[in-house]
Amino acid sequence: MASVGAGGAAVINEGSPQAQAPAPFEAGRDLRSPNRNLAPITAALDGEGRLQVGGCGLSDLARTYGTPLYVLDEATLRTTCRAYREALREHYRGDALALYASKANSSLAISALVASEGLGLDAVSAGELLTALQGGMPADRIVFHGNNKSAEELQLAVEAGVTVVADNWHDLDLLAAIAPAAQAPVRLMLRFTPGIECHTHEYIRTGHLDSKFGFDPDQLEAVLRHLLGCAWARVIGLHAHIGSQIFEIQPHRDLAAVMADALALARSLGHPCTDLNVGGGLGIRYVASDDPPSIQTWVQQVAESVMAACDQRSLALPRLLCEPGRSLVATAGITLYSLGSRKEVPGVRTYLSVDGGMSDNPRPITYQSLYTALLADRPSADASETVTLAGKHCESGDVLLKELALPPSSSGDVLVVLATGAYNAAMSSNYNRIPRPAAVLVQDGHADLIQRREQPEDLLRLDVLPERLGRVR
Ligand code: LLP
Repeated sequence: MASVGAGGAAVINEGSPQAQAPAPFEAGRDLRSPNRNLAPITAALDGEGRLQVGGCGLSDLARTYGTPLYVLDEATLRTTCRAYREALREHYRGDALALYASKANSSLAISALVASEGLGLDAVSAGELLTALQGGMPADRIVFHGNNKSAEELQLAVEAGVTVVADNWHDLDLLAAIAPAAQAPVRLMLRFTPGIECHTHEYIRTGHLDSKFGFDPDQLEAVLRHLLGCAWARVIGLHAHIGSQIFEIQPHRDLAAVMADALALARSLGHPCTDLNVGGGLGIRYVASDDPPSIQTWVQQVAESVMAACDQRSLALPRLLCEPGRSLVATAGITLYSLGSRKEVPGVRTYLSVDGGMSDNPRPITYQSLYTALLADRPSADASETVTLAGKHCESGDVLLKELALPPSSSGDVLVVLATGAYNAAMSSNYNRIPRPAAVLVQDGHADLIQRREQPEDLLRLDVLPERLGRVR
């Protein structure tokens, strides 16, 4: 149940079992580290008990912009950005910079917002790179990743003057052909596989040795020696990333030691290596039982372990970079759907279908991810029904939420799925030729459209009908 908070508005948030309406503010909402909350920090109830985010009524947004609709709360995103920035300043003795891993959710508006908060950005494709640059992210705050960058992508990165993270020999071969034409040596980081196991979904684990990402640690010395002879390259740092949606701190501490050894090696060979990029990975709360560390705790532990590892090896402190994606943007985002058909399978389950599904949120079908959902206009009503929330795609597995406790609902009601700001829009598809949702940014009672809704014409835009096939009438 929601309750009335200090400001008069009832506040919806964390702390209840999965199949319940979220518990009240008093259950421990963390306003400094929104990754520990279920809902955006501005979530509140209006005088009639309807849910608002960023001061905007959610069912009003659904009426104005249609559904499915991605809604991004500016205050929550700015808060997570500041949490990283301030924690790095507080806990690390040297220079530090948090880079937004834009694979989590890439758009002009998010790039601009994150840039305005003083963060940098990690891009992994020409598309993400262009989005960042055009969104106003300064090139000297961008790093460019990828385990199979094309020559065109590397060309773009070199011309833009961003830092390139070399993942393998193929990158180095391509760069050797492209980079000498550039005015200055390419600022290069080397990614290596640190050999660290962590508990997360198999598909989003990257630090263990059997990973497609990065140089094998045994090869690192040979790569570093090779690069001593490459005038086009300036090896400014090392990178490793162990995985995503991680709640444990220990793997990140272990990573610091592994990276400090690599840093000592690189510097002993004569590379400047001023930067150490420890990747991202901090998890968020999707359901009440999730209990991730706060951004402050994560940063403190990472910073302290990097400092300790460097001190033990008598290494001058590198600039510390980290690359959070999910923990920056996930909780800021929610998705609105309209409820449609209902099917009751007697004695088995009740399916409620929404007007989206696996095309706007492929995480449940891909990773069996859990979410929290509620009705926009009756978030605190008695959840007396247990339903299965199905998508509209032609696939039995297109189920967004199993065993969801909801108040009685009818077709047309607006349903809110929480914590969809990361890897939802970013991984969306047009399966079944379903257009992608629009996205709005909300703040102080105002909504800005930041992504137009795809139209059926947009889906046909790139199709070509060969003349010889004629036109079907
Ligand atoms: N840096 C690198 C090199 C990465 O590969 C990733 C995520 C990040 C940073 C950001 O990690 P985060 O802070 O977001 O955990 N699609 C999956 C997640 C894939 C993550 C890929 N790499 C999901 O929906 O859970």
